[in-house]
Amino acid sequence: MLTTKARGLADLPPVQSDSLLNLIALCNADPRPEKIDVGVGVFRDAEGRTPILKVMKDAEQILHDTQETKAYLGSAGDKRFAELLRPILLGEHADDDRILGVQTPGGCGALRLGFELIATANPNARVLMGTPSWPNHAPIVEAVRLERVDYPYYERAQAVIRFEDMIAALGNGEAGDVALLHGCCHNPTGADLSEEQWRQVRDVVVERGLIPLVDIAYQGFGRGLDEDAYGVRLMLASCDEVIVAQSCDKNFSCYRDRVGSLFLKTASPADSAKAMAHVFQRSREMWSMPPDHGAACARIILDDPDLRDRWLVELAGMRDRINAVRQRLAEAHPRLAFIGQHFGMFSMLPLSKEQVLKLRDDHAIYMADSGRFNVVGMSDAQIGRFTAAVVEALEA
Ligand code: LMR
Repeated sequence: MLTTKARGLADLPPVQSDSLLNLIALCNADPRPEKIDVGVGVFRDAEGRTPILKVMKDAEQILHDTQETKAYLGSAGDKRFAELLRPILLGEHADDDRILGVQTPGGCGALRLGFELIATANPNARVLMGTPSWPNHAPIVEAVRLERVDYPYYERAQAVIRFEDMIAALGNGEAGDVALLHGCCHNPTGADLSEEQWRQVRDVVVERGLIPLVDIAYQGFGRGLDEDAYGVRLMLASCDEVIVAQSCDKNFSCYRDRVGSLFLKTASPADSAKAMAHVFQRSREMWSMPPDHGAACARIILDDPDLRDRWLVELAGMRDRINAVRQRLAEAHPRLAFIGQHFGMFSMLPLSKEQVLKLRDDHAIYMADSGRFNVVGMSDAQIGRFTAAVVEALEA
């Protein structure tokens, strides 16, 4: 039988473009001045701006004044940056020499590297993923050709985690399968595991011999830096093999600079070094070396006690705004009360796609088709109009 093979670029199949990137473009193109952009996850202040952190501005100035060369740093990027992240992310495990970390282009780069590593080590590993999840998780898993097993994580209508389903799905995992977990500020639902639930997840992960891959992109936006790292640290304390994909893009508010890291743990320093050599090989193939600027600034901040303290204050300011807006929304109407129980930038409204599109058409409110919205996407002045329109849609 004759098979038709793609011959050139014109023969490529169409691509389903990324829903969140699409939404940014749609919102940007909307000329209505009153539009409310609660789509993509960027922090905005009470005036609706995403300012560069003051401490970041100062770090950029220091970098400008002191950097003497832009010669290559190598595949590991800024090693001191990764070292300084250790106490923040790993806490009591910071000195564990079985845990190695490397700078990556954002949390997305870390995720890709983590899954590349799994696929290299064990192409038969399956990835157990709760749904809904960040819309880019599934494409990354598919890109490395690992099998994905989805299970329901969240019941949107009741605004609750389907914890029993989650435990059952993880319980069906086989040794070497990957449990993809959200470290904190679950994207897209905001519904985080309690510490007791984390311990139950840990128990089943250990019992089944799964490898936890924890995606932690919003550390410090939920309860606090240490509290938000509870799940990461619990897995490190309990499992021989752990992968952590971390992002500084949000907590340093440097989204476009792409600042993140990948940490991995195996049972021995030698095995970790071997695994890290594979990480360098993969990153060399994909982007050769991570971009320097943002990580260098984060390093300058974390390396200086005064700058570090100022970062912590600005981070707390972002967290306080997130939680304050959550409370305002929760108190605005009983149907929105669940928003006060959740953490981080996102919550999910039980709206149909048609209702979401109607909010877009009628009120210039831009949220993801799934009903996910960015709690701090709107300015303070927009909160009243947002809640009125959403409650109307919910009650329709
Ligand atoms: C989001 O979920 O809105 C952010 O993580 C931005 C992105 O890259 O999708």
